[in-house]
Amino acid sequence: MSNTQPHEEHESIIKTPKQLITTIVLSLVVPVIVIILLVKLVTTGDQVGAGSDILGPEATQKRIAPIAKLELVDASGPKIFKTGVQVYKAACAGCHDAGAAGAPKFADAAAWAGPNATGLQSMVANAIKGKGAMPAKGGNPSLDDFEIERAVVYMANSAGGKFAEPTEPKSAPAVAAAPAMAAPAAAPMVAAAPAVSAPVASAPAAAPTAPAPATNDVGEKLYKQACAACHIAGVAGAPKFADKTAWAPRIATGMDAMVASVIKGKGIMPAKGGAANASDADLRAAAQYMVDAAK
Ligand code: HEC
Ligand code: HEC
Repeated sequence: MSNTQPHEEHESIIKTPKQLITTIVLSLVVPVIVIILLVKLVTTGDQVGAGSDILGPEATQKRIAPIAKLELVDASGPKIFKTGVQVYKAACAGCHDAGAAGAPKFADAAAWAGPNATGLQSMVANAIKGKGAMPAKGGNPSLDDFEIERAVVYMANSAGGKFAEPTEPKSAPAVAAAPAMAAPAAAPMVAAAPAVSAPVASAPAAAPTAPAPATNDVGEKLYKQACAACHIAGVAGAPKFADKTAWAPRIATGMDAMVASVIKGKGIMPAKGGAANASDADLRAAAQYMVDAAK
């Protein structure tokens, strides 16, 4: 018995029933506390949305949902998004301000030259799913993909990037009624968020690098609202946005066939891509937007 058995060491952590109970209680309580703190963090850190539905249980639920969740139908109400600066300060500055752990440093043109050259979509995808030492969404699964995109634009443009402020996924009419709250809500196409050009003088938001034509507003909007959730990163086998190789065989089947797939659903993609309220014409526009980006 003098020999140490592997189990002895393990058991020595919990010796008495009291310790066992304490352990069990803690393991139940701690996650709950963490969730409560997360909800607090998300709701209180957001002065912009005061008085809006951002504090509602639905919005909160959405914000704390894990990234793997597929945001399908969300035509219910307008949502106030955080600006790039707000997201950056809350979730990204911790590493990117000082360039911790190999993170490209804010406003360091040399550090960002590489990522910037890969294009916005790629950077956004990496920020969403994580890269190297960077956790998915910078460790903030509650952030919306659109908010991540805004933060990436803000960061990239601080360091020589010339990316246009991304279009808000839902510029629903109701949102336009609140112009006083935050910059991005007002203009549907190019949100006039002044923050983007603030940090570095050399960031005109004039030259979009996206391959898609800027004319397909309807398609772009629906894409960002309903389709990007899967297609931006190629979730679950979805042909990835702007990935020519992934799209070529599908494009070859013709627009009508692809639109038909979207309308009735295909594989993991739900009918209408989950956008139950979208008209067939809008779905076609979204598909066209995706196809144009992959040509
Ligand atoms: C825990 C530290 C950490 C946090 C927090 C963090 N990042 Fe990063 N980030 C990194 C590191 C490290 C890299 C370099 C990854 C590599 O190239 O291996 C990086 C790279 C990037 C890149 C370049 C990706 C590319 O395609 O090369 C972008 C864009 C980016 N981060 C955006 C963000 C955004 C937006 C946030 C906040 C929502 C954020 N990061 C939060 C550590 C972090
Ligand atoms: C839940 C994830 C998901 C969402 C949301 C989604 N898609 Fe897809 N999409 C997929 C997957 C997965 C495939 C590949 C299906 C297959 O080939 O099995 C796909 C394929 C496609 C194709 C190619 C169809 C073909 O015939 O090969 C088009 C076009 C498309 N999606 C457009 C859209 C549009 C437009 C929307 C938004 C209105 C959308 N998708 C939303 C997952 C999604």
